[in-house]
Amino acid sequence: MITRRAVLLAGASAGVLALSPSASLGRASRSVDTLPADAPVRRLSLSAREVDLPILGADKAVTKRFCAYDGMPFMTLRAPQGTRLMVDFKNDLPDPTTVHWHGIRVPNDSDGVAPITQKIIPPGGSFAYNVPLPDPGFYFFHPHCDETGQVGRGLVGLLLVDEPPERQVPFDLEHIIAVKDWRLGEDGQWLEMFTTEGASTAGTFGTVRAVNGLPTPPRRSAPANSDVRLRVIVADSTRVIDFGCDTDEAAVIAVDGQAITPFTFDKVPHGIWRMGPAMRLDVHVRMPEAGKEVKVYDYRSAEPYLLTTLVATESGKARTDFVPKALPIATEVPMPDLDHAERLDFLVQTAAGATAIAAPLPADDPLSKALIDSMCVGSATFWAINRNSWGAGPDLRLPPPLSTLKDGQSYILSITNATKQPHPMHLHGHVFRVLSSSKKKTMPPYVADTVMTEPNETVEIAFKATSGNWVFHCHILEHMDSGLMGWFMVV
Ligand code: C2O
Ligand code: CU
Repeated sequence: MITRRAVLLAGASAGVLALSPSASLGRASRSVDTLPADAPVRRLSLSAREVDLPILGADKAVTKRFCAYDGMPFMTLRAPQGTRLMVDFKNDLPDPTTVHWHGIRVPNDSDGVAPITQKIIPPGGSFAYNVPLPDPGFYFFHPHCDETGQVGRGLVGLLLVDEPPERQVPFDLEHIIAVKDWRLGEDGQWLEMFTTEGASTAGTFGTVRAVNGLPTPPRRSAPANSDVRLRVIVADSTRVIDFGCDTDEAAVIAVDGQAITPFTFDKVPHGIWRMGPAMRLDVHVRMPEAGKEVKVYDYRSAEPYLLTTLVATESGKARTDFVPKALPIATEVPMPDLDHAERLDFLVQTAAGATAIAAPLPADDPLSKALIDSMCVGSATFWAINRNSWGAGPDLRLPPPLSTLKDGQSYILSITNATKQPHPMHLHGHVFRVLSSSKKKTMPPYVADTVMTEPNETVEIAFKATSGNWVFHCHILEHMDSGLMGWFMVV
């Protein structure tokens, strides 16, 4: 099924900066652009629509109402670093939606979060997104309204941003592993995505495990002793995986698209890298001798679940020592000043009702009366951050910000998970340093946009705040749709 169309946006022409037509919302609406005005521009149209697809196989029933960007599952955009995408988005779904560019440092008014950065896009409506690509890496885009339902039915796109040719590190093969299950009944039709049991516990799981959309894990061949780059994403709404492989000659080279000093899997506890929904990983794998295979697994399942088999073919290279290839570290990403950082503590907890304790917004702030669109969130509230739940209560009033931050100031967020479930926490508009974990003492240093917090774990992250209204939420989609989301106002 997976006809992944890479829309190659190569070749540059001097750009004309188009202005985003979106209206300013709230006090912190100064949108910071992360590329110069004369950066090369690529215009593209993108639509979200429903299609009927035989996702279980040609001999099985066609699944109705699959959601996909441009009608293609895992539609993939690829563009050089430093390009500005001007995306004319059209909502051809029968429901409201928005587009969020996960991990990309976009101007706030292109971040896709109703009601704090834009209004929802109604069926038939459109929106112009200004998506600068200041950093290389592996990103994705998805709706930020009824995420559980729309992502559950397939609405996810991938976005690869390449370094300029002179900084590119060559590999013999690049292979994407998109982990996403399908939640289908025997008849091949969608089951309910949001369930009360799921939303209040670990989330509702799919019924069919799949990699790159297909129930059969991919097999790829690469020359013996050659170098493969795996680009792994957990695009599932719920599933947490323990990524690992059955070779010693494999190293993590980027986390959430951000290059790091490479480390082999023997440097991390249990030889696995835990990945929750939205997390990405770039892995350098050295192929074995001809005829041998490398198997890549999710070791979290009771039986290790095969994600991909890499088969070494004849026509190989001569065997050399395995030295993980280091990708160029993106110097453009603003890093926090830890000596002058302010500390903020957050508790991820179960909801205690609509008892928000954060200070309300001043009455003259346009967002003080904003409501969350009922079509965008779940029907129940189970989770909170510092006793704030997103969209709690029958009136769906926007909760006050978790905190009001200063543009350019560095912050250390200490996040304590006081629940029985893991929560992969994502901060919009920023890339943060993961400083410490109370449970994983031997963690290598890395930067990310989503960090796992396990039950009873405290994780510290640090970032430099950028002007805008930015949400901070769990990426288990039923959790965020049932309260586990808050926002920072950065002024
Ligand atoms: Cu993928 Cu609000 O995020
Ligand atoms: Cu969660």
